[in-house]
Amino acid sequence: MSGANADEITIAVDPDVHLRQDEYDPRDWNSDTTSIGSSIYRGIMENGRRYQSLKEDEYAFPADEQQFDTYDAVHLAAMVGDSQEENPLFHAPIEPKNVLDIGTGKGSHVPEAWVRGVDLFPPPVTWLPPNCVLEVDDVTQDWTWSQKFDLIHLRILACAFTPEETVQIMKKCYDNLQPGGWIEQFEIHPNVYCDDASIAEDNVLYDIGPRCDAAANKSGKRMDLVKTIRDSIEKAGFVDVHEKATKWPIGPWPREKAKKELGSINLHHWLTGIEGYTMFLMTKFGDPEPWTQEEVRVYNAQMRKALLNPHHHPYQRTRRVWARKPFPEEVKARDEKEKEKQEKLKEAEAAAAAAAAVPVKQESPEIKKEKE
Ligand SMILES: C[S@@+](CC[C@H](N)C(=O)[O-])C[C@H]1O[C@@H](n2cnc3c(N)ncnc32)[C@H](O)[C@@H]1O
Repeated sequence: MSGANADEITIAVDPDVHLRQDEYDPRDWNSDTTSIGSSIYRGIMENGRRYQSLKEDEYAFPADEQQFDTYDAVHLAAMVGDSQEENPLFHAPIEPKNVLDIGTGKGSHVPEAWVRGVDLFPPPVTWLPPNCVLEVDDVTQDWTWSQKFDLIHLRILACAFTPEETVQIMKKCYDNLQPGGWIEQFEIHPNVYCDDASIAEDNVLYDIGPRCDAAANKSGKRMDLVKTIRDSIEKAGFVDVHEKATKWPIGPWPREKAKKELGSINLHHWLTGIEGYTMFLMTKFGDPEPWTQEEVRVYNAQMRKALLNPHHHPYQRTRRVWARKPFPEEVKARDEKEKEKQEKLKEAEAAAAAAAAVPVKQESPEIKKEKE
């Protein structure tokens, strides 16, 4: 089903699901960075997690084995969530030859095309398909690629850029696409929803989304890109804008098989990812003041317990937007139309100003009388 209103449909619950309710025991993080020479690979250690060291301005999520495991889970969830689509990787109607993937992470999602992936942290892979180049770079800096792309793809760039950087990056995407090329962005948000009141209103599950948004905003970046990607893409001048919003269940609670599978994978995504998604944000920008590492761990333990409660039916929202760079004749027509609109507006303003300048003639009492 590819309905644009997929996020309005209530997910049916499987009454026979029984999750283990005991405490989730995430794998301990094992550092193997000491054996890797490059300082970029070594990154920066903080609160038991490794962060990228390329960009001076910090990026909120770690770059370590546990986080890459989380990205694997999110990739799998995205594939299962869109498995009914002809192409779950991207929806832009194009067979791309030359793709740029921004913030490529582990690079698990490259299509069969020439793909250039760019990320602050080198991907933890020893083998890449021959159609791929993964570069370590900061996309907020100048882009120096000489060739134009026919697809630019972004997935889960929440908390990566300030609103001003987003405007600049969208402009660079526009400028670095061939006319007729496509941009596509897919985002998820940690706000937890529930359609059947199975989660009490004061449950911690409802706390994480607003808390992450508040911390991200304090940091100057935004977490809630699901709300803003369409606008950012449209404002950059893209046309033919499409979007698809969906609900991702968290846990194997849905009755339908594909949704159950998606929910199971997404639960793994949350269980492995929650620390990475919250540790930096809360220890630096937590409310009312930065939290200690221990406070974040306790919060995450509460979250895991709530996620593993078999009576809960949580889900989160996702949004995918894809749009096309107009051809030169479309740009020309659009510019002419805009010029015409501006001229008409000016004329109307001039007419209104002229009308305001003419004194209104008062009717004499005699004429008024005659009219009556
Ligand atoms: C949440 S991960 C998503 C990874 C991948 N797109 C996926 O869906 O699996 C976001 C990635 O963006 C990268 N990133 C953040 N800011 C960046 C920047 N300024 N330039 C390049 N990559 C950046 C991070 O290092 C991280 O690997």
